[in-house]
Amino acid sequence: MKRIVAVMMALCIGTFAFVGCSKKAKLDIGIAMPETHVERWVKDGATLKAEAEKLGYKAEVAFGDADQARQNTQIAGFVTNGAKFLVVGNVNDGVASAVADAAASKVQVIAYDRIIANSADYDYYITFNNFKVGQLQGQAIEQGLNLKAATAASPKNITLFAGSPTDGNAFFFYDGAMDVLTPYISSGVLKVVGPYPPTSKDTGNFQRIATENWSGPIAKARMENLLGGDARNVTLDAVLAPNDTLGRAIIEALKADAKYAGKLPVVTGQDAEPVSLASIKNGEQYATIFKDTNKLAAAAILLASQVIKGQAVSIPGSVLASDIGLGSIGDTGKKTVKAYLLDPILITKDNWKVPVDAGFYSQQEIDTNSLK
Ligand code: BGC
Repeated sequence: MKRIVAVMMALCIGTFAFVGCSKKAKLDIGIAMPETHVERWVKDGATLKAEAEKLGYKAEVAFGDADQARQNTQIAGFVTNGAKFLVVGNVNDGVASAVADAAASKVQVIAYDRIIANSADYDYYITFNNFKVGQLQGQAIEQGLNLKAATAASPKNITLFAGSPTDGNAFFFYDGAMDVLTPYISSGVLKVVGPYPPTSKDTGNFQRIATENWSGPIAKARMENLLGGDARNVTLDAVLAPNDTLGRAIIEALKADAKYAGKLPVVTGQDAEPVSLASIKNGEQYATIFKDTNKLAAAAILLASQVIKGQAVSIPGSVLASDIGLGSIGDTGKKTVKAYLLDPILITKDNWKVPVDAGFYSQQEIDTNSLK
């Protein structure tokens, strides 16, 4: 009897589908998130899993710790465990080989928030309008410095930071911000302190302002270097920070400099992290961008379920990138996938409560960060 059980268990582990292994139900949806040091992904992972389970799917989440080899192993594990569908927020384009292997096993993949570059092995991408995210960051600076009323005779100083050069989104964020700021730089109203890539296509300078793996400590160290170097003899009025994790790291460096003790520059962000919302409320960080990732997660799982059931894909509340002239958001370098975009919202002190009112945070997160 013992031997029979052992054999059955071996078969269960091997196939998960073996009759009589009902306790080990087959995995339906594998959710691969890139990292945990940027808080949003922890929430994205939990929300995606909950949304999948709401629709009756068995789902599992794994976090890649900003390590693509590790994430590829996790993705391969999902395929082995019988997943029909994968939702992947990748670390970098090294994910393409894992996606190719999944496709070879007839497992569908959706790129979640970040495009899977250099791959022709998937069809769908769901994200926010990332160019608009950047435009809103640029508008925050325009508004915070009142650039419309500023003159070249009394210019404002800005330093530029970009996200990870391994994340396609970082290029859209930067180019969106520059779409708003370039006219002010060209007219001399805004002066760039430190490296200045007019667009992300200026690869050399973009690399200089980029922040590998969206690492807070790297951004903080670069800000400290700037304060002791290029920015030593000027007072900065603004810092373009691509997300909250980096924005807060930059603010930490600024606060350690006596020059900014009385007044911090206008610092942007993204993700509406609770600590940053509190900082905005208290007048430190100037702005963030709220991307309702609860809606993104629900939309991704809806898309998965439509594909699994062979239904036509229709995602309420999203627009197709190609319908608004942003088809390049879905360009992987090997093909153009269907990219569904949700809308980001600019948050400043005037409307910091929007994410709270949208029910985006739990009561505990609200209480812990005094977001009342
Ligand atoms: C996401 C941002 C996030 C960043 C760092 C980007 O791909 O769109 O929301 O802040 O990655 O994790």
